[in-house]
Amino acid sequence: MSNEIDLLFPKMVAHRRHLHQHPELSYKEFETTAYIIKVLSTLGYEIHRPLETGVVAVLNPEVKSSKVLAFRADIDALPISEEGDAKQAFLSKNPGVAHCCGHDMHTANMLGVAELLKAHQAEIKHKIVLIFQPAEEKLPGGGRLIMESGILQKLGVTEVYGLHTSPKHSVGTIALKSGPLMARPDEFILTIKGRGGHAAAPHDAVDPIVIAAQVVTTIQSVVSRTVDPTESAVVTIGSIHGGTVHNVIPEKVEMKGTVRTFRKELAEKISHTIEQTAKGIAHAFGGDAELQFDPGYPAVINTPETTDIIRGIVKELYGEQALIEMEKPIMAGEDFAFYQEEFPGTFFFLGTSSEETQSVFPWHHPKYNADENGMKIAAPIFLRLALS
Ligand code: NI
Repeated sequence: MSNEIDLLFPKMVAHRRHLHQHPELSYKEFETTAYIIKVLSTLGYEIHRPLETGVVAVLNPEVKSSKVLAFRADIDALPISEEGDAKQAFLSKNPGVAHCCGHDMHTANMLGVAELLKAHQAEIKHKIVLIFQPAEEKLPGGGRLIMESGILQKLGVTEVYGLHTSPKHSVGTIALKSGPLMARPDEFILTIKGRGGHAAAPHDAVDPIVIAAQVVTTIQSVVSRTVDPTESAVVTIGSIHGGTVHNVIPEKVEMKGTVRTFRKELAEKISHTIEQTAKGIAHAFGGDAELQFDPGYPAVINTPETTDIIRGIVKELYGEQALIEMEKPIMAGEDFAFYQEEFPGTFFFLGTSSEETQSVFPWHHPKYNADENGMKIAAPIFLRLALS
């Protein structure tokens, strides 16, 4: 195996660097899709196009197996201007767009997996479905649209697996846990409505900036005072806008925020509390508040049985020390959750952190980088899953 992956590795690196230099935003991954299709059709995969971008490819399409495994990689990039010395040789060529979340590596890894599976096709008894999913970064989420397209149900998928590069875990390790792994990232827009006027005559106006200041401060107690302390939740206001000049009281202030939880009911309760709190404060000042709540992805919840399968494979391939059991879930979101709403499955973190390649920055940082050696660890796990 190690020899086989060593031979394949330079090709995976070439895929990764090509994708890294040509990043595309969510729902606009046209070149990326064409690149993936070119590689997969050369390998002889059956290709499906359930959405405008992205690809679903099938190995052994004619096989009627009781198990049909789906492996998912997301393919989209972010609206970020890239920086970073370690990536000088292959920095983004699309200004303002960059793979700063490692999806280029997820895709390159899965293209490598496609080649590995092909080489072992005679030994693989199941139908295998490779999902190259668009738009992980933007609501409603490519994962949701793939599920709604019905393609996976039609192909008879029974289990789904996926990974994300992790800047928190070093190369050579896999980190995971059963049960809740990643949170529901719901979003909201909170508008505070006042009445505009001259800055020198606040008594003739209703100042939405003062109201907004009170609301932001008070919202900090929503989690601490209304959520069961044994449950996890976060409320963050990430953006606040109101007014244009120093001598005008504006009509309104708009805030954008996120609610992170592991349960839909809790997220809805929190959003209701935010709305009531904002309205109450606004009314006291003679203004009003309006909340628009946009449900995000569900929480990523790993099935214990499929997670045990991954644990077994990691220990077998790389030894006990390669497996990191996470004690706590993380509050970031992932649209892999949509697959898990219907199929048992596991999402895990691939260690891609290293000092040598400056792969130490967090996800979505302009200097984000993932150590390519992580792919040597990742690809064989999917081959072993397919052979199981
Ligand atoms: Ni990501």
